[in-house]
Amino acid sequence: MTTSTDTVGTGTTDTRGTSAAPTTGRRPPVAAATDEAAVQRCAERLLGAYVDAMLVLMIDLADRTGIFTALVPGAATSAELAARAGLHERYVRECLGALVTAGVVDHDPDTDRYLLPPEAAACLTGPGSANIAPLSRIPTLLAHHLDEAEEVFRHGGGIPYERFRPAFTSVMDGVSRGVFDEQLVAAILPLADGLVEALTGGVRVADIGCGTGHSTVVLARAFPASTFVGYDLSDDALAVGRAEAGEAGLDNVRFEERDIRTLPVDPPFDVVVGFDVVHDQVDPAGVLARVHRSLTPGGVFLMLDIKAASRLEDNRGNPLAPLLYAVSTLHCMTVSLAQGGAGLGTVWGEQLARQMLAEAGFVDIAVHDVPDDPLNQVYVARAAVR
Ligand SMILES: C[S@@+](CC[C@H](N)C(=O)[O-])C[C@H]1O[C@@H](n2cnc3c(N)ncnc32)[C@H](O)[C@@H]1O
Repeated sequence: MTTSTDTVGTGTTDTRGTSAAPTTGRRPPVAAATDEAAVQRCAERLLGAYVDAMLVLMIDLADRTGIFTALVPGAATSAELAARAGLHERYVRECLGALVTAGVVDHDPDTDRYLLPPEAAACLTGPGSANIAPLSRIPTLLAHHLDEAEEVFRHGGGIPYERFRPAFTSVMDGVSRGVFDEQLVAAILPLADGLVEALTGGVRVADIGCGTGHSTVVLARAFPASTFVGYDLSDDALAVGRAEAGEAGLDNVRFEERDIRTLPVDPPFDVVVGFDVVHDQVDPAGVLARVHRSLTPGGVFLMLDIKAASRLEDNRGNPLAPLLYAVSTLHCMTVSLAQGGAGLGTVWGEQLARQMLAEAGFVDIAVHDVPDDPLNQVYVARAAVR
């Protein structure tokens, strides 16, 4: 029997016109469905989303091909920009057409020159975390997995982590590298009382789910008296960390391929850090308990995770929430479900995170915003004295 949902999904109507029982709530007045102005607004909202989706593809392309960087020295024609970036002019011009009409790049019709306004240059170029161009790669990467997602929507299970590699490794590195460079030592570590002093004095530190290990290298460079181990499942990511540590001549850092469910507990660590790693675990409660076991009594767990609330209704005012739920659907939740895991998802939220940290045995749990970072929060928790 073919069915179609009514406008707000409160019930179904079969093709013979027989109404099935509504599944949720009350059926709204018929007038609500024929409010032309509301329909128009809804259509505009959706079309705007489709326009922005294509703009994201152009931002990703302009970033990876060097068009934004080519715009930095000053206004230029598409031919000059193509020459600067070593690209084919016709593609550069068409991509710029999208970026100009979207208001990202300026164009002077008299000189046919393109210009990156200073505010766009601040957001789309440079090595720091203010450059959010690398974030455009998240939607473009995850879009590759829609066919697999359709399968798991229909048949259950999930898309395994390996399916996202190796592209995921460099996309993730691009997203977090600037944050580690600019904020980790200067702004994030000082959120935990006494942590900088302990690291300066010399302690044992684990970086769980370290990816390419840039966070581990940044810490090892800043605190030569401490020793650091970066753990990850992904050997291709760890190879990047080993190379970077080698180039920096660091002898207080090493990387190990290991499932953090088996994080070593003896000898214990004084500090464990985990950046954007707990919510996509197969067994997040087990990992948190293992981290607790691996720490000396009073040891610090510093966890960077997504800034969100645990209840859907509390996330409605968060403009980033659609992105977070979508990333969860297409990555963080599905990699966990692929192994029969908890499927906590990106938006597990502060309330549940606090509860799970407490259930794992942590005490003195504090949550801080990250300066200039609307996406993340820092959790600081201490291992209970046993
Ligand atoms: C979202 S990425 C974050 C990487 C890095 N911490 C960062 O912020 O750029 C999560 C990382 O955790 C790793 N990971 C996930 N589950 C793991 C597990 N059970 N044991 C070890 N590593 C794991 C993944 O391979 C991936 O590199």
